[in-house]
Amino acid sequence: MGFTDLDHFLLLLFIMSSLLNTTFGADHSKYTVIVQRDISVQRGLCVYIPCRFTLESGSTSAQAYGIWYKGDSKGEVVSSQNPSKNPPQNPGRIFFTGDATKLDCSMSINDVQFSDGDKPYLFRLQDDGGEKYNYVNHMIQLTVTELMDKPVIITPVTPLLADKEVTLTCESPGRCNGSAPLITWNRRGVQRTGVTHTTIHPDGNKTYYSNITFTPSKQDHLSSLTCNVSIRASSASTQNQIILNVEYPPIVSIIVKDNIQNENTPIIVNEGDSETIKCTVDSNPNSTIIWTKEDIILSGTLIGQTLIYSVKNANPNDTGIYRCSANNRHSSITRSINITVHYAPRNPQIHCSTPTDCPIDGNKTIYIKEESSLSLRCAAESFPPAALNWSTTNKNQQNFNTNQNGEISFSKILLSDDGSYTCQAKNERGNSSASVTIKVTFGPRSVSGKNSTCKEAEHHIECSCIIESFPVANIQWKIDEKSYNTSDKDIQITTCRIKAETNSTLSLPFNQKDVPSIECISSNQYEKFVLPLLSKKSLPEKSSLGMIAAVSVVLAVSVMLGIAFIILQYFRRRKLKQEGKDEKELTSNSQDAIYSNASVFCNNGEISQEIPNKNSTQDDRTVYMNCEEVQYASINFAAMKTKPSMEVTEPETEYAIIKPR
Ligand SMILES: *[C@@H]1O[C@H](CO)[C@@H](O)[C@H](O)[C@H]1NC(C)=O
Ligand SMILES: *[C@@H]1O[C@H](CO)[C@@H](O)[C@H](O)[C@H]1NC(C)=O
Ligand SMILES: *[C@@H]1O[C@H](CO)[C@@H](O)[C@H](O)[C@H]1NC(C)=O
Ligand SMILES: *[C@@H]1O[C@H](CO)[C@@H](O)[C@H](O)[C@H]1NC(C)=O
Ligand SMILES: *[C@@H]1O[C@H](CO)[C@@H](O)[C@H](O)[C@H]1NC(C)=O
Ligand SMILES: *[C@@H]1O[C@H](CO)[C@@H](O)[C@H](O)[C@H]1NC(C)=O
Ligand SMILES: *[C@@H]1O[C@H](CO)[C@@H](O)[C@H](O)[C@H]1NC(C)=O
Ligand SMILES: *[C@@H]1O[C@H](CO)[C@@H](O)[C@H](O)[C@H]1NC(C)=O
Ligand SMILES: *[C@@H]1O[C@H](CO)[C@@H](O)[C@H](O)[C@H]1NC(C)=O
Ligand SMILES: *[C@@H]1O[C@H](CO)[C@@H](O)[C@H](O)[C@H]1NC(C)=O
Ligand SMILES: *[C@@H]1O[C@H](CO)[C@@H](O)[C@H](O)[C@H]1NC(C)=O
Ligand SMILES: *[C@@H]1O[C@H](CO)[C@@H](O)[C@H](O)[C@H]1NC(C)=O
Repeated sequence: MGFTDLDHFLLLLFIMSSLLNTTFGADHSKYTVIVQRDISVQRGLCVYIPCRFTLESGSTSAQAYGIWYKGDSKGEVVSSQNPSKNPPQNPGRIFFTGDATKLDCSMSINDVQFSDGDKPYLFRLQDDGGEKYNYVNHMIQLTVTELMDKPVIITPVTPLLADKEVTLTCESPGRCNGSAPLITWNRRGVQRTGVTHTTIHPDGNKTYYSNITFTPSKQDHLSSLTCNVSIRASSASTQNQIILNVEYPPIVSIIVKDNIQNENTPIIVNEGDSETIKCTVDSNPNSTIIWTKEDIILSGTLIGQTLIYSVKNANPNDTGIYRCSANNRHSSITRSINITVHYAPRNPQIHCSTPTDCPIDGNKTIYIKEESSLSLRCAAESFPPAALNWSTTNKNQQNFNTNQNGEISFSKILLSDDGSYTCQAKNERGNSSASVTIKVTFGPRSVSGKNSTCKEAEHHIECSCIIESFPVANIQWKIDEKSYNTSDKDIQITTCRIKAETNSTLSLPFNQKDVPSIECISSNQYEKFVLPLLSKKSLPEKSSLGMIAAVSVVLAVSVMLGIAFIILQYFRRRKLKQEGKDEKELTSNSQDAIYSNASVFCNNGEISQEIPNKNSTQDDRTVYMNCEEVQYASINFAAMKTKPSMEVTEPETEYAIIKPR
């Protein structure tokens, strides 16, 4: 309706009403309605229209009441303050809420329908004790629009949590006095009609809502929840939808080679290979994800909620338990996997025990005392554990008493056990080996078949001391409590050795009267061996024998010349000798001067050969010096004559000095 048309229409109404109902000659400017003229309301909602009016007399009587018409005062009564006199034609939705006696013309309309906006509304004051007036200049126009307001879905302030029951509220739009709407919920495709509750506010307005109570699960995360409010009275409906944010603790899976890994199944990685382990986390909110191994954080690559760690060029240190931990505000979840790197045995180690630990020197040699017990244990770092196997270069050794620990034992080691022993460790990834050389040591001792002797030469006593030992022994001569290991002006010492054998000769002047005590003392690191060759003795003077002796000598000579010839045949090559009894002493803590000089001499010359110490490995028994033949071979037995025998201190040994001539 155009503005001009409306003006004409109002003018017409004014004329008609003036003629029929209202006071003539009134000052129309005194009659106003103070109200919002154009009111817009959405279909289905309600509207409260506050309204005040004025009139010429300024007040009304107690009988005054108001009426709202649609269109004009001949039209439909929509609401009346006095329904008994002017009953509304469609009661129930539009109410006169004001009070004309208080100049209040307020009205409320519930469940607004499109038809409510067809025509303007006219207010009429009906005061039987005063004025009557149609406020035709102050009509109000209602514009009804489509229902646009959406219900409000109220979620708890705390986030939704999986497996925890929650109540959500859907509140219908509009807030006054309409009829209860039908509220329906749609969750994951399932429609449910809720119970509509009414909230009556202190101002008398009402709102309607419905609650939905459910226990969300992780699957509800990001699903929609719809609330549909249907206002039947105005056949209008509106809905709102929210996307649920359901929080849940991390769900952690470890993926290796595209398979979800079972915690108990170890992952085998061969040395040098690579393996990628993925930790995939499903959680809301997103988790912080870390890979750790023995409390050390490994740096991985994060793609979305998957943390990828790569074991590259695997080495044994990569073996271990790898843990993936995912943590969000609800929980911290850890899963672990066992990665085992398989690798060939490396650095086999040989351990020697007797049963106390025995050293293996830098040349991988074990010096072991003869007749000791010895066991060699082999161990090699490897995974899976290696099978251990011993072999030797020693031809005498065929069968080893090898136990499962890779140990071989000798209950009594013998010289014949000397050799190189190799332990091989082998597993599916390969093999490696380690060797040791066993050298059996023994203290100085007599050599069977080679007697140490002293014999008298021309103005000399010549002794030879032949012993064997390993490592080689140092020989010292003790003549009447005085020790010698090198020649001096009177005494000549020649020492040489052939393999394990040491041969020392001593030559000292002899006055034909005082037989000195002579001991050959040989020692190595392990033992000291004292070999007495002569014991001190004074021979009787020829002159002191006297006449009897002289006669005896004559007799004896005549008798003995005969015997001597026979003896001479027998003893022709026999040397004066003395077998000393073994006097072995351990020398480990002896500070005897014998050890002071480690040099070995041959023909009075110093030889570079040193007694090997315990960390020497060369086969000392193969090192020897060639000795030149020494002088005592030139003993002349042809002119030999008998001499009185000398006695030694030891009762069980006997010897004689036979002086060659
Ligand atoms: C509720 O009613 C009061 C009158 O009682 C009114 O002033 C107010 O505007 C109404 N509220 C709404 C949201 O309609
Ligand atoms: C609300 O509606 C009821 C009837 O449904 C009515 O009696 C009451 O007066 C109305 N109140 C308001 C404030 O509109
Ligand atoms: C609906 O839910 C709200 C929020 O949880 C609660 O305050 C209210 O009491 C509930 N109403 C009914 C009728 O259960
Ligand atoms: C809302 O509910 C009404 C009445 O049940 C229905 O006619 C309307 O189609 C529904 N709207 C939606 C979007 O589901
Ligand atoms: C890891 O697996 C290996 C077998 O490959 C096993 O020997 C080891 O005991 C396991 N480690 C742990 C901590 O379970
Ligand atoms: C959570 O992770 C997903 C990938 O899984 C990503 O798309 C999303 O942006 C992340 N959210 C936040 C808040 O970082
Ligand atoms: C393995 O670890 C040990 C000690 O932690 C280290 O000495 C060695 O170098 C590591 N080996 C490798 C190949 O990283
Ligand atoms: C040890 O080696 C020999 C031959 O090299 C072989 O016959 C034997 O089976 C091996 N034993 C072990 C336990 O590896
Ligand atoms: C040990 O490993 C080597 C290669 O490193 C191989 O040639 C040899 O055959 C292996 N020996 C045994 C007994 O497996
Ligand atoms: C060594 O002495 C023993 C007696 O003590 C004797 O039987 C043996 O024949 C001697 N050997 C030599 C080579 O002189
Ligand atoms: C190992 O033997 C070599 C000669 O074969 C020698 O020079 C070296 O000193 C020895 N090392 C040890 C620790 O005995
Ligand atoms: C000991 O050495 C001397 C020379 O120094 C030699 O004449 C003698 O034959 C050697 N004896 C043995 C048993 O080698």
